[in-house]
Amino acid sequence: MMHQSLRFIKTALLITATAGFSPSLITSSRCSSSGHSMTKSFHQASSSPHHNHHYPELCVFDLDACFWDQEMYTLSKIPDETNVVKGDLIGRGQGVVGVMSGRSRISLHKGSLVALQAHLDGEFGGMRVCFASSADTPLAEKIGRAALKLLEIVPGTTVWDLVVGRDWNGVDINQIGRQPPLSSNKSATHFPILREKTQIRYDRMLFFDDCQWGDHCGQVERACKETDSGRGPVTVRTPYGLRVEEWNEGLAKYAKRVHE
Ligand SMILES: *[C@@H]1O[C@H](CO)[C@@H](O)[C@H](O)[C@H]1NC(C)=O
Repeated sequence: MMHQSLRFIKTALLITATAGFSPSLITSSRCSSSGHSMTKSFHQASSSPHHNHHYPELCVFDLDACFWDQEMYTLSKIPDETNVVKGDLIGRGQGVVGVMSGRSRISLHKGSLVALQAHLDGEFGGMRVCFASSADTPLAEKIGRAALKLLEIVPGTTVWDLVVGRDWNGVDINQIGRQPPLSSNKSATHFPILREKTQIRYDRMLFFDDCQWGDHCGQVERACKETDSGRGPVTVRTPYGLRVEEWNEGLAKYAKRVHE
């Protein structure tokens, strides 16, 4: 209990210090899917009328073996807040750096944490983030969403708080799974659904995928194109997981495309 209240105070200080939120919103800051009041204020705090065209409008991450280091289908327990592992969030303080599902630990790859910390700081203009994962089973989907709601970017702010709460005003637009209407082919289902839901053009997207089980990057590049430009998302393969170099490579590849 003591620990929890300390954490609340820390979160409150962090949030009020960074964005001047009203204290009445703090009570909902730890929730994930039900944090509407917080997510709304996140959205207002972050909305920017100018989009910098050097950055993608939508950055899409695959989850397993890309954004994080595990494959969800190998896990069997849905993690909760008793399963978190605390550690250094690369210079931003102590927070949730790992989540245990049974005896396996789920952690973000370093490039993912670097990317989302900078995104939280507003370094990429109006860019928003979401996930496209072909998680094998309904249980794998649940474990994945639970981990997103526990793993932190900075102390007190989870991946979910940022990527669902702030970026999409609390709406879960992530495409996670392969049960209908999804399939194992992201270019046939995940990306067309994201295009429809976000109204963001394919050629304004950047996509990272490990491509170990199938060439999702190549498939998305080939099948998901805008008719006027003939172009699809800029894609980057992450066979070693998303390291800082692949993250930087993605940003550079996207910026270069803008100038072509
Ligand atoms: C995936 O879907 C795309 C778009 O419908 C299609 O062109 C492609 O052949 C499919 N790939 C596989 C491996 O099924």
